[in-house]
Amino acid sequence: MWRFHRLFEKHTMILLIGILVVVSIGGLVQITPLFFIESTIERVEGVRPYTPLELAGRQIYIREGCYTCHSQMVRPLRDEVERYGHYSLAAESMYDHPFQWGSKRTGPDLARVGGRYSDEWHRDHLIDPRALVPESVMPPYAFLAGRELDVNDAERHLRANRVVGVPYTDAQVENAAADMRAQVDPMSSFDFERRYPGALVRDFDGDPTRLTEMDAIIAYLQKLGTDVDFSNYEAEAPENLR
Ligand code: HEC
Repeated sequence: MWRFHRLFEKHTMILLIGILVVVSIGGLVQITPLFFIESTIERVEGVRPYTPLELAGRQIYIREGCYTCHSQMVRPLRDEVERYGHYSLAAESMYDHPFQWGSKRTGPDLARVGGRYSDEWHRDHLIDPRALVPESVMPPYAFLAGRELDVNDAERHLRANRVVGVPYTDAQVENAAADMRAQVDPMSSFDFERRYPGALVRDFDGDPTRLTEMDAIIAYLQKLGTDVDFSNYEAEAPENLR
């Protein structure tokens, strides 16, 4: 037995091959099971894909670099949970391509900002942050209220998300542009509400005559962190897993 071991100690090539064999066994044990499960993310009741308007708002969020000052992940630490709410679940960002977790927090975490303020608050804050929070260092984004939202890319945007695994139906993809308008118009949102049950329907930017980038980004902010009902959420409870 020890003579055999001496072989490894004296010949580096044999030692190297021995190391490779041992490491590959460890690797296979860890990696092989991943090919036989559908997803590594535990599914959670309530998590839904973004509506086309929210998706457009998310795109504006990325375009304007909001992520350079805001994270979107509540860590399971006491101070964070007390300030922001339940810690983030992996499932809550399963439809984010790319995810917006981030780590830079010049401003507060936004993972659970949905429903915390009114639409008017968000609009006024984005137009002039210092009007509401005098010590704020956030830049103003007033121009979003004046910019017409481009609906032409909506269909392709949903299609691209479908390629990377977001389960949009054919009806959702084909009606993407119409659904953007329908979400801000409660009078014509019947089909929209059937396609996206639970989504907020209202004029977000305070100007019902136009569909603006302000509508999109507020729709996105108001959705953040609102999918899962945490009042009766328990990580291991079967009714919270589907
Ligand atoms: C230069 C850094 C910076 C950038 C860029 C920035 N913010 Fe902020 N944001 C802040 C700071 C600081 C605060 C806290 C003070 C305040 O409320 O204005 C804040 C607050 C907020 C709040 C209120 C959060 C809360 O819980 O009170 C929202 C919502 C928000 N920002 C959204 C955005 C969006 C959307 C963008 C991009 C369009 C953006 N921010 C870009 C720094 C930034």
